[in-house]
Amino acid sequence: MITKEQADAFGAIETPFYFYDLDLLRETLDRYAALIARYGYNAHYALKANADDRILEIIRDHGLGADCVSGNEVKLAVKSGFDPKKIVYAGVGKSDKEIRTALRAGIFCFNCESVPEIRIINDLAAGMGRTAQISIRVNPDIDAHTHRYISTGLKENKFGISPWAFQDVADLLAQCRNVSFIGLHVHVGSQITEMPVFALTCRRIEELQQWFIDHGIPVRNLNLGGGLGVNYQDPAGEPVARFEDYFDTIHRNLVVRPGQQVHFEPGRALVAQCGHLISRVLYVKAGREKKFAILDAGMNDLVRPALYQAYHAIENLSSSKRKLRYDVVGPVCESSDCWGKNRLLAACTRGDLVAIHSAGAYGQVMAMRYNQRDLAKAVYSDDLKK
Ligand code: LLP
Repeated sequence: MITKEQADAFGAIETPFYFYDLDLLRETLDRYAALIARYGYNAHYALKANADDRILEIIRDHGLGADCVSGNEVKLAVKSGFDPKKIVYAGVGKSDKEIRTALRAGIFCFNCESVPEIRIINDLAAGMGRTAQISIRVNPDIDAHTHRYISTGLKENKFGISPWAFQDVADLLAQCRNVSFIGLHVHVGSQITEMPVFALTCRRIEELQQWFIDHGIPVRNLNLGGGLGVNYQDPAGEPVARFEDYFDTIHRNLVVRPGQQVHFEPGRALVAQCGHLISRVLYVKAGREKKFAILDAGMNDLVRPALYQAYHAIENLSSSKRKLRYDVVGPVCESSDCWGKNRLLAACTRGDLVAIHSAGAYGQVMAMRYNQRDLAKAVYSDDLKK
């Protein structure tokens, strides 16, 4: 929710920009951290969702570690003060340079996504006189019931190691002196809102870890990835994700062996709702059949609708009581640069401020300069209070 005072303060700021409600971020993190503590779990924030420095600082101060998917993310996490002993690193295509960066940083764990990657990490670690802790990212062949571009746990997806390759993993681990196997990792997709998907993941991981235990390979850590979705339809009604339901589902369905540690890698659920993309109406174009509200924010600022047909709630922050239907579009020369079709909004006039909600995750980090457009800057609620 954007308050009247905040909207008034927006008037002086050049649009488009990202507005971050840091109070909501802190409240979200307080609730998340309390549940993590209650169950004795460990959490690593997925930097890919939002790597803004003020946001990282707040997340770090709530005691979370970092989940990275590139050497540069590892470097950024370290620079932002995350404890290297709480950094995990996944990715199907870790380059030698990136692996060396992570080895040098002394991270907690590499989440390995293929058999040859284990060998390379071992050899690079040997060359540096180090031992790398690794987990195996398993491909559990689970349908996450989410958009196919953000579904990662099906056997046709490129992620993780399938159970049929476990024997190769075991044989390789027996030869490798510079990697130490510490556990299993799984991440089946993003924007998952159906709790049974997580229940199924827990049951699958139990079956899969049994294979390692039966082969005399202890599994000390279980990392269940991220994936919890947020309410894009009604962000004001559900500003904080359903963490209670989520952890209750995990707690009831995951078999935790004595001494085992359980890890999570939340991204979207922590940061999506605290971010809004704020823009202005440039023009209202009345066609025969429909009206277009043309905004100054485009797909280059927030690519999710163009890339995944993602829904984001749109609100005209001006005070008009009259409601009309618009196709809300951006200025970029692509027909996919569309924020929403046939949306009911307060009647738009040039200069009105329009908020595109739930833009805190995979928004600013995925921005690009297509059409040579400027990158939208960040504005923080804390600074408006001053
Ligand atoms: N862990 C791993 C290994 C991941 O691949 C991801 C996200 C996460 C954790 C964090 O997942 P989350 O809690 O945010 O669902 N750009 C897309 C989302 C891509 C997600 C990629 N992996 C979007 O805008 O919807």
